[in-house]
Parts: sequence; C-alpha cells; structure tokens
Amino acid sequence: MSERTLVLVKPDGVQRKLVGEVLSRIERKGLSLVAAELRTIDDELAAQHYAEHDGKPFFNDLLEFITSGPLLAAVVEGPRAIAAFRQLAGGTDPVEKATPGTIRGDFGLETQFNLVHGSDSAESAAREIKLWFPAL
Ligand code: CMP
Repeated sequence: MSERTLVLVKPDGVQRKLVGEVLSRIERKGLSLVAAELRTIDDELAAQHYAEHDGKPFFNDLLEFITSGPLLAAVVEGPRAIAAFRQLAGGTDPVEKATPGTIRGDFGLETQFNLVHGSDSAESAAREIKLWFPAL
C-alpha cells in the first residue's frame, strides 16, 4: 500500500546545493515525487510546522533557521514512504545518530543544520501535507 510523506530540504541543504542529491536518493530508492516547490516560509507556517517543539530551548533558533532562506518542500509517495525517507535521512543528530550512507550521515555535522526533514508518522504526514500543500 502506498503512502505519502512530507519532505523538506532545509535552507542549509539548498544553500549547499544538495537538492539534486536528496531528490536523486529519493528517486533511486524507488519513491515518487508528487509535488515539489522551492519557497521561503514565514514565521507563521514555521511555527505551525514545528508546533510540537514550541517551548523547547531550540525553538526560536529553529524558526529563525527554517525561515532564513529558500527551502524545497516536497510530497513523496511510495510503499512505506514515511519510514523509507526517514531511513534515507538518518537520525536527527548527523554525527551521533545518523550513519554513513544516509543524507545526514554523509553531509551533516550539527543537529540544527541537519539538511532535511521527513514526517515522523502517518498522523504527522497528513497534518504536514495539508499545511504545506493544501490543494493536494
Ligand atoms: P527535524 O526532523 O526537522 O525536526 C525538528 C528539528 O529540530 C530537527 O530536525 C532539528 O533540526 C531541530 N532540533 C532537534 N533537536 C535539536 C537540538 N537539540 N538543538 C537544535 N536543534 C534541534
């Protein structure tokens, strides 16, 4: 059964010109792109996207970073797409958790600048896709 997940190539990934690398890994895995858009988001969308982190010590830095420049937002589809993209991304901390061979493990150094986001559950995916791509 196919499912959908929301993927972001965050501003650090766009700035470092890793968009093609990330999309290539998604496609080579066998997942499909349903939608993709380069955009710079405002504080409101950022706060809604990261609502579960509101109040955490890194929340303000997270908002500042995610609104700092263009990011690529995409909807990705395929069998077990949510888990499959999280496997491609690697763990949140690019050094302690992500292993080599993953996007964060290969290209990341700091948790705040961990290049990509992928929905972490079916509920998050549904909420995030509605937030970012309401027409889908
Ligand atoms: P993401 O998967 O987009 O979900 C929440 C984000 O918060 C996470 O990636 C990191 O970019 C950021 N984050 C999580 N924990 C920390 C932390 N301890 N310090 C800074 N940023 C964090």
